[in-house]
Amino acid sequence: ASLENLDTAVPAPHRVQDRSLPAAAAATDSFDNTPDSDPSLPANQAWGRGILARVPGSDLGKAAVAAAAVGTEAELDAVINTAVTKGKAWGALSGAERAEVLHRAGEVLEARRADLMEVMAAETGKTLDQSDPEVSEAIDFAHYYAELARELDNVEGARFVPSRLTVVTPPWNFPVAIPAGSTLAALAAGSAVVIKPARQSARCGAVMVEALWEAGVPRDVLQFVQLGEKELGRQLISNPAVDRVILTGGYETAELFRSFRHDLPLLAETSGKNTVIVTPSADFDLAARDVAASAFGHAGQKCSAASLVILVGSVAKSPRFRNQLVDAVQSLKVGYPEDPTTQMGPVIEPAAGKLLRGLTELGEGEAWLLQPEQLDESGRLWSPGIRTGVRRGSEYHLTEYFGPILGVMTAETLEEAIDMANDIDYGLTAGLHSLEPAEMDVWLNRIQAGNLYVNRGITGAIVRRQPFGGWKKSAVGAGTKAGGPNYLIGLGNWEAVNGTS
Ligand code: SER
Repeated sequence: ASLENLDTAVPAPHRVQDRSLPAAAAATDSFDNTPDSDPSLPANQAWGRGILARVPGSDLGKAAVAAAAVGTEAELDAVINTAVTKGKAWGALSGAERAEVLHRAGEVLEARRADLMEVMAAETGKTLDQSDPEVSEAIDFAHYYAELARELDNVEGARFVPSRLTVVTPPWNFPVAIPAGSTLAALAAGSAVVIKPARQSARCGAVMVEALWEAGVPRDVLQFVQLGEKELGRQLISNPAVDRVILTGGYETAELFRSFRHDLPLLAETSGKNTVIVTPSADFDLAARDVAASAFGHAGQKCSAASLVILVGSVAKSPRFRNQLVDAVQSLKVGYPEDPTTQMGPVIEPAAGKLLRGLTELGEGEAWLLQPEQLDESGRLWSPGIRTGVRRGSEYHLTEYFGPILGVMTAETLEEAIDMANDIDYGLTAGLHSLEPAEMDVWLNRIQAGNLYVNRGITGAIVRRQPFGGWKKSAVGAGTKAGGPNYLIGLGNWEAVNGTS
């Protein structure tokens, strides 16, 4: 652990924090006159209604997804060959030339903010309060990787050799920002890209890719595919022209990819089971709010989400913090994104398997502090659940669930709480709520996670300011962090110039 990601009290000069929905309303005139806009509503809700009025019948991205279908191995080979052949000219551009296209991509993504929010709501159920900053993150990636592309031109004694082809396989939970970030990084580093979005969020991927094409990324260089059969996925990953695969998804998927090709150059951001520790010195109001937001934002479906809160010493022994946490969580408005005031939306698919068990079954010694309820017939809408009495070494302690459930554990000391956190195989994000500098030092030195947050939420890493990436089973392959200064240099090779390096 290092201080690299320690948050500070200094406000970031960053668009995610600087912008607000009312400002976006002013910048986006296409929704000013929608029939559902209601001047009696706060500006963000009126603007949101403009977007959301279109969600039920939204067909954004549908045509592009249909057009991207690849049905046979021969078709897939043709896609790969075209990308590699046409990608040579892209890789031969200077970093500065590619940077211009990336900056334009940032502008087009901004112009299409409302479309991107609409398709996220329609396809994945993402609420406006989550989708708006997600578009901002995609835009930030475009401008930041543009800057890094320029730097590739100026390394003394070495020349950056782009990969020929990068395959991007993003997840459905950040269906715009993650595919955009991975694709923009590979493009900035001069590689051609084949992107295959997650099945559940293919339309979101399509609208994002269309924005990049509109900005001037050649279609042949950025190929968007939908693979009809699973076998084609194996073909794609195993193709020797693929120099790099950027995966964001489960640890098992990374293992599967490696089983397709053992020497696969993989850059994978994988699972998480993230903890927040609350010590007696903490500001309880702040801690309850941050834990609630980190656990239940996007219905707990972020790899960065808080899954366990570990209460230390007197915090564990008194009901005070638990009660505050329950209050904070119960106040979240649960529903579908079509209501712009929704704070916690549905899960991506009807809860089944491990997630359903997590929402309905308790382990030994556990009790519901707040019992999750299925709120309609869809199987997707659940109220948030908090289980207390989670035992060290139990299934809930060590397993990722990816849904609106939080577990409470207790520890006598901060050291013991850190040990409990470090028992977990994953190490993506972690949080500490404490106002004691000495406690912060102990935690920062010992906690095993990639992104560390003190006295704030543990989701929503900001490009450049909080480069994002994990330890242990939360990362597979070269360990550079997305949105950080070394990300592009891990995406190509370096060649010495004039015998020096
Ligand atoms: N980067 C996201 C976050 O920090 C997760 O992918 O929440």
